Amino acid sequence: MDYFIKNIVSLLNEGTNLQENDIEKLIEIPPDFKMGDYAFPCYALSKTLKKSPNAIATELSKTLHAISPISEIRAVGPYVNFFVDKAIFSETVLKNIYEEKDRYGHGNIGIGKTIVIDYSSPNIAKHLAVHHLRSALIGSAIYNIYKTLGYKCVGINHLGDWGTQFGQLIVAYKKWGTEDTHKSCTVTDLNNLYVKFHQEAEKNPRMEDEAREWFKKLEAGDFGAKELWQHFKDISLKEFQKIYDMLGIHFDAFIGESFYNTMIEDTVARINGKGLTRISEQALIVDLEHYDMPPCLLRKRDETTLYATRDIAAAEYRKKTYNFGKMIYVVGSEQKLHFKQVFKVLELMGYDWANRCVHVDFGLMKFKDGKMSTRKGKVVLLEDLLIEAVERIRKIIEEKNPSLENKEAVANDVGIGAVIFADLCTKRNKDVVFDWDEALNFDGETGPYIQYTHARLCSILRKYGKPVTTDINHELLKEDETFILVKNLSQFPMIIQKAAEFYEPSLICNYLIDVCSNLNRFYNTHRVLSEDDDLTKARILLIDSTRQVIKNGLNILGMHAPEQM
Ligand code: ARG
Repeated sequence: MDYFIKNIVSLLNEGTNLQENDIEKLIEIPPDFKMGDYAFPCYALSKTLKKSPNAIATELSKTLHAISPISEIRAVGPYVNFFVDKAIFSETVLKNIYEEKDRYGHGNIGIGKTIVIDYSSPNIAKHLAVHHLRSALIGSAIYNIYKTLGYKCVGINHLGDWGTQFGQLIVAYKKWGTEDTHKSCTVTDLNNLYVKFHQEAEKNPRMEDEAREWFKKLEAGDFGAKELWQHFKDISLKEFQKIYDMLGIHFDAFIGESFYNTMIEDTVARINGKGLTRISEQALIVDLEHYDMPPCLLRKRDETTLYATRDIAAAEYRKKTYNFGKMIYVVGSEQKLHFKQVFKVLELMGYDWANRCVHVDFGLMKFKDGKMSTRKGKVVLLEDLLIEAVERIRKIIEEKNPSLENKEAVANDVGIGAVIFADLCTKRNKDVVFDWDEALNFDGETGPYIQYTHARLCSILRKYGKPVTTDINHELLKEDETFILVKNLSQFPMIIQKAAEFYEPSLICNYLIDVCSNLNRFYNTHRVLSEDDDLTKARILLIDSTRQVIKNGLNILGMHAPEQM
């Protein structure tokens, strides 16, 4: 618990009959710092004391005595507001940041707990789609957020590498693939084969049967089928990995749907054993009518399994393998029903951990003017999007700061960062509209703006040229603009916890935007480097702390923080 909240809680604990835990949960931060630094709402007490919250607030504010580090207690409407001793507050916060450095914001609430996160999880033999990019970025930020809090995270890429479509692809490949295709085949080629299959199958429906036959063979372990399938998989993984590398996205395991092929028999038997299944139109289903959902399909009439079946087997496997406390699926909102069904089946199977599976959904990413880019015509690949972002930033750097060292690396960090930030800064369940000019703007609420602010702070510190120390006079950091920034920095650990609680990386983005604007307000009002040594030293500590917090925040989002731009 925060040092100041701890003091407030213990004052309130003596002054009321509430438990410390309950008090802590009630403490709020007033919207306007002039009203107080912390606030305690009296609504909860009003029921037991049978008085109005305003009256209780007034009484409490009189009976409680402010002792250091609390400097004043004041009733404001139904709230008891607390003011902290600014110098003690700033000393506590800035020393903490200085000591913790890259670990500032880290916590230990997750120690000993494991969390499995399923993200990106694209389908092989197709290009990585935009929703797989969103999932990768959101999932990997959530991974970092939880890791920061001490959790053991297991990031899994649940590749879509199984299903009838691979039967289709095998048929197409055998029909139209050439020797050449085999050697230099790309995901684009596979995609074209797939499209061609569908065009031809409309005229010749027998091809669908052929495809089903091939997938059945694949599920049965047929060598020829497996070899081709592995070839498709290798080609796809190579392309995916290239994009993950560009984005700096890491997975602890690539375990695709195919992996569960050998386990599925047992899974289905367990569901059967619980008396949950029945045959409907020759398919094996779990009827979920009772729960207002369509049935969960486990097995088609040709005996092949389905997406949901494999997800159920995967959940069992992950529980056995990782013994997770929680499992998160970062998948688009269009799969809401799928996960509701899967979680329901797990619950009906008697797994008490079913309610610890969470579908973290997200909205669409759209492109302003409907296109991703015009550079290469119709289908623009994610790789092109990232390359173009870097390219555009490189041009801006070339214009603004042509003598910059490491131009390539910086353009890369900022270009990629711009895409990451543009994706993460919107609340995840809202649709994102990607607009080049907006995402790359150095003055907007963007990645480049945050990174640029960070680089400016580094430049002030370079100009200062001496080591930063904490033996400063904290009385000097009391002006409004200054203290607001200090308070803002103190909130970082709490923001990370909130972001974890709601699986919401956008909270960190918004927080960083706030820090940057508070920093700018401070910087525009007060001179950092001046003749006054003590004042300079104090403000430099604040500058360095702000730099550290921005860096830590960017890193959690999966972005780099270049020191020069
Ligand atoms: N491959 C799926 C798709 O592209 C996403 C898989 C998400 N993860 C899962 N365990 N179902 O739509």
